[in-house]
This record gives sequence, C-alpha cells and structure tokens, in this order.
Amino acid sequence: MYKINFKFEQKGLEPIIIDNVASGQSILEVALDNNIELHHNCGMVCACSTCHLYLEKGDEFVPEISDREEDFIDRARNPRINSRLGCQCVLEDGSGELMVTIPDQSVIHGE
Ligand code: FES
Repeated sequence: MYKINFKFEQKGLEPIIIDNVASGQSILEVALDNNIELHHNCGMVCACSTCHLYLEKGDEFVPEISDREEDFIDRARNPRINSRLGCQCVLEDGSGELMVTIPDQSVIHGE
C-alpha cells in the first residue's frame, strides 16, 4: 500500500494525504478517485500533456519515463526535471510514500 501526499500550486488549495493506496493504479486515477482535479484530455493514453504533474518523491515506485512521455512533457506548461504524466505513473507492487505537486488546473494547458 502507498501513501500519496498531494500539494497544489493553485492558490487556496490545501494539501491532501491519501493513505492505503493499492498498486496497479496510476497517480491520475488515484487523484480522480479522490476528487482531485487533474485534466486528462486524451483519456489516459499518453497522447496529451494535460495530466502533467511534478513527482517530488517516490519515482522509484513507478515505471521509468518513456521517450513518448518525455515528448509530451516537453509540450506541458512549466516542465521541470521531476515532471511526469499522471496517467503513466502506475504504482508498481510494493509500498511507500510519494509526494506529488499538481500544477494549477485553472490555467490553460497545452495539449
Ligand atoms: S491523460 Fe493524456 S497523457 Fe495522461
């Protein structure tokens, strides 16, 4: 089981901690299941950049970034060294703690 700490760049949103998260789901799915707004225009198939997030801690619990994912991250707003696409960060079997920062969802994102 995993614990995921979500922080938000959008002003006024308090951090949320989600505990007892099962492996096999993506960070995007976990967010949506917990009413955390995170866009996903392509339907979670690594064909947009709207589920862009920053994985501050815990990248050892998800697959390595693919070339395709990197290409789409290049088109995201404010990409950083720890940028990932939420739909591609599927939790592997195991347990641990992740820290995620969600970019401001109220501003327009690139596709
Ligand atoms: S939802 Fe489109 S890349 Fe993740």
